[in-house]
Amino acid sequence: MTDLLGSMKRTHNCGELRAEDIGTEVILMGWVQRRRDHGGVIFVDFRDRYGITQIVFNPEIAKEMHAKAQELRSEYVLGVRGKVESRPGDMLNPNMVTGAIEILVEELKIFNRAETPPFQVEDRIEASENIRLKYRHIDLRRPRLQNNIIIRSKVAKIIRNYFDDQGFLDIETPVLTKSTPEGARDYLVPSRVCHGEFFALPQSPQLFKQMLMISGFEKYYQIVRCFRDEDLRADRQPEFTQIDVEMSFIDEEDIIKVAEGLVQKIFKEVVGIELESSFKRLTYDEAISRYGLDRPDLRFDLELKDISDIVKDAGFKVFANIVKQGGLVKGINAKGCNNFTRKIIDELTEFAGIYKAKGLAWIKINEDGWQSPIVKFFSEEEKQAIKERLDLEVGDIVFFVADRPEITNEALGQLRNELARRLELVDNKAENKVFEFVWVTHFPLVEYDATEKRYQALHHPFTSPVEEDMDKLETDPLKVKSRAYDMVLNGVEIGGGSIRIHSDKLQQQVLKMLGIDEKEAKEKFGFLLDALVSGAPPHGGIAFGLDRLVMLLCGEDSIRNVIAFPKTQKATCLLTSAPSVATIAQLQELSIRVAKKEPTAESED
Ligand code: AMO
Ligand code: AMP
Repeated sequence: MTDLLGSMKRTHNCGELRAEDIGTEVILMGWVQRRRDHGGVIFVDFRDRYGITQIVFNPEIAKEMHAKAQELRSEYVLGVRGKVESRPGDMLNPNMVTGAIEILVEELKIFNRAETPPFQVEDRIEASENIRLKYRHIDLRRPRLQNNIIIRSKVAKIIRNYFDDQGFLDIETPVLTKSTPEGARDYLVPSRVCHGEFFALPQSPQLFKQMLMISGFEKYYQIVRCFRDEDLRADRQPEFTQIDVEMSFIDEEDIIKVAEGLVQKIFKEVVGIELESSFKRLTYDEAISRYGLDRPDLRFDLELKDISDIVKDAGFKVFANIVKQGGLVKGINAKGCNNFTRKIIDELTEFAGIYKAKGLAWIKINEDGWQSPIVKFFSEEEKQAIKERLDLEVGDIVFFVADRPEITNEALGQLRNELARRLELVDNKAENKVFEFVWVTHFPLVEYDATEKRYQALHHPFTSPVEEDMDKLETDPLKVKSRAYDMVLNGVEIGGGSIRIHSDKLQQQVLKMLGIDEKEAKEKFGFLLDALVSGAPPHGGIAFGLDRLVMLLCGEDSIRNVIAFPKTQKATCLLTSAPSVATIAQLQELSIRVAKKEPTAESED
């Protein structure tokens, strides 16, 4: 066998040599980051995943190697042998950990040449995300992404140790399976053997982990890929990874303790931050009432205040009528922002419109009185009451939304986050980063889907109602609270779970309430219902979004930056060009005929 590396055996990596190593003979391997020709002497920033070391080709010392170094270009792959030398005083670089030394090269081996890369391998690059995703193998050479992927690997190791130490079993569950309802569309895989039939890729291992509890495994965890065909955003991918957990003979407090312990350990070991010993908690109702959203960002105040009672008879008919129709009028006081221009107010109104608010009323509290298109409609008493409710002072501007409760809360909740962004209420500098955790508990069991005209599970259909509300299941389903909980970090839902239903009767009752009749229940979840009558222990669990957790740990604002090979917003992979068309032979084997619509003017993009 030929020795691919010649006589070379790497002695060090590109991030570890320091002043103490001066005089040592070393062999390094890596990539050319940049080559600079300084009047005869050639300098190369030499990179591997551990860092960058400067290597030097001096024509007076190694003439032949220097000549060879002339042809080096970015991303060439090299092995070099040379001596660690101290850098001349004016070339010391205190910003680099290896900035005190350089390697004077005596032997150079070019393992491979590289075409000019589509963008420089540097953190500060201008390339569009599409180009970066197409050349992901090059993008992944950038220190920032390398660091994210390394942190992700570290987090996975901590997770495994944590659960293993506590006696949890890592058990794999199928990927070719049956639909698990988590609220998204399924990815389907056609069966070749059973013509016309399809597997669904799991939206989560929910039913399998419940089956494992019924089988007696008691403590399960898995770092598992999940698939959901849904509209994508910065924190959503069609395939993503969950830290999935389930336990038997436990209640909410046990799950919360295990989950907090995991997150505390990850933060301590990865970023050296000691989190509080137990996280804040809010009920769903409280979260919505104060922050408008079920995933409140607690890094800033800006609480929503309900003024429905004050304006129910006001001269401003928009407000009064909304209250009469059962709607809500709520406001946010943006302290000290009465200098907002017309343009800013218009932008905020447009922003609230995205969340279906039909308008955004405002009042500025100026030195010389209140300024607002709606102030003339309020009596002095109403004004006084609004002032007290919202703690209005000179210099403030207050924004109101009046609408159905869901719209008022969502629009103002989102506006609250938008105001915080604009006012820079959150310090995003790495060293000042704050992590505000909160548990949101007691979610409603169901919500009403007006288009489908039926109730939908807010978490999933296997979530247990709270004991006190069992009697309302038939009479007033919307009032029933569930034993579900979410862990929220800085306004992002990073995990969610619940105590499950372990009685077949209750499970059937809940499915019925969700408009799933016995026949459909048997077809879809027959195996669960059968298992529930075979001796099912009380059980519950949680699943974290690993990508989201790592995103927040890395200070990234998109999970694409912590996934090695992510998909685009359109759920495609630019690197491999997946998805792609199948061959006729493949389709025939699966007995599938593709009915491709002629593109219409709109979809021709
Ligand atoms: P849930 O649907 O809340 O619960 O998912 C759990 C966590 O997974 C993350 N997540 C996602 N991350 C990236 N891209 C997505 N498309 C995506 N969807 C969800 C979120 C979320 O909190 N089986 C239940 C868990 C349980 O009850 O134990 C479940 O899947 O961070
Ligand atoms: P109008 O009477 O429609 O001209 O509205 C007067 C002000 O009230 C404008 O600033 C609108 O943006 C605002 N407004 C109208 N409808 C609503 C609503 N449903 N909620 C909050 N503000 C509204």
